Amino acid sequence: MKSASTKAGSDRSGVCWRPWATRCWPWPGSVSALSVWEIYRRGPGVCYGPRRLTPFAGRPEWRRGRSTLLGKYFLKDFGIDLGTANCLVYERGKGIVLREPSVVAVRRLTREILAIGEEARQMIGRTPADIVAVRPLRHGVIADFDLTREMLRHLIRRVCKRRVFFRPRVMVSVPAGTPEVERRAVIEASLNAGAREAYLIEEPVAAAIGAGLAVHEPSGNMIIDIGGGTTAIAVISLGGVVTGQSLRIGGDAMDEAIARFIRRTSNLMIGERTAEELKVAVGSAFPLAEEMRMEVRGRDYVSGLPKTVLIGSEEIREALQEPLPSIINAVRSVIERTPPELVADIMHKEIVLTGGGALLRGIDDRLRQEIGMPVRVAEDPLSSVAVGTGRALERIDLLARVAVGAKRSH
Ligand SMILES: Nc1ncnc2c1ncn2[C@@H]1O[C@H](COP(=O)(O)OP(=O)(O)OP(=O)(O)O)[C@@H](O)[C@H]1O
Ligand SMILES: [Mg+2]
Repeated sequence: MKSASTKAGSDRSGVCWRPWATRCWPWPGSVSALSVWEIYRRGPGVCYGPRRLTPFAGRPEWRRGRSTLLGKYFLKDFGIDLGTANCLVYERGKGIVLREPSVVAVRRLTREILAIGEEARQMIGRTPADIVAVRPLRHGVIADFDLTREMLRHLIRRVCKRRVFFRPRVMVSVPAGTPEVERRAVIEASLNAGAREAYLIEEPVAAAIGAGLAVHEPSGNMIIDIGGGTTAIAVISLGGVVTGQSLRIGGDAMDEAIARFIRRTSNLMIGERTAEELKVAVGSAFPLAEEMRMEVRGRDYVSGLPKTVLIGSEEIREALQEPLPSIINAVRSVIERTPPELVADIMHKEIVLTGGGALLRGIDDRLRQEIGMPVRVAEDPLSSVAVGTGRALERIDLLARVAVGAKRSH
């Protein structure tokens, strides 16, 4: 990590030191192959001339515009949130450019890939016997490496379009505590998928940056990222995780709990997509001012025939009595292990909730009541991790502090 950050830092020193790369710059007709290579190698936003060895910041506005124009059009930086439920891509200077469900449809015997993303998600539960719609990541870990690599390749190809010569830099978020072997596998997969440089960032750190927390300061920030497969709880200071815990409980576990509860109480069998629809439509973690109802269709457990039942938010709350206390207990245990100075900072700043699970109605009220600390939901919780990965790439000083693994292609 050290060597990569040093490399990146020296690349962006803002000083032109190769005379042959700069001499020809003011006359675009004479840009040599070497100077094009130099522009490509050094990345966007860096000074490329002219003649004098001047730092970027001291250059006149019109020249600054010229040198960044190349970076703007040809050199791309992408932040990728490789999630269990959704994959998001953030492009430097543009924001979120792609959102795809993390699903791949494959032919069982030949392993031929038939669809990736939204198209594959539509197939869940509706495939013929020889086709299966799978999630390459389960419970926040890579369950199928080949499919994960194909998905990364699909995402990078979709956002790069025709710019194959100028390969992008990517930063991919991985769950905190991902083993070294898997980290290396994600970096290799990104490079194989067409990245020029690949960096990794821990999900809670990315979520905190995306939620606008000043993670690089010597002060405590607490983040709870409730995703599809995992819940990451972390206290971050100086760009690193001080105390944290990752649970294999998230939105998927809530859906399973809802399906189990409805089968037990109403004798109705429902699929995971229906359970998720119920959770999103009427789910809550805290009593609502006006309770809600929704009609669900499924199969009667006893007769095997179709049946419709009306389910209310109180019932969903009861179903969530299984997964929610586990999350709350984990939050308590992380706070107990956190140094008192940092706890004082968090009391002052609020705990921030990110991830799709933060959209569950009343989850902030429930946490506030149970742990007695201020809690708020991030502005766009579903995008926080992707925005954080992209922002870390935008700011080289942040990158040096938060990247947990980095590699360049040869
Ligand atoms: N309005 C909502 N209310 C409750 N849950 C929601 C809502 N919207 C989305 N979710 C849940 O959020 C989860 C997806 O969140 P997110 O996209 O953050 O997960 P992920 O990043 O892919 O997963 P992970 O971080 O575990 O790898 C799903 O389980 C989904 O059901
Ligand atoms: Mg996530």
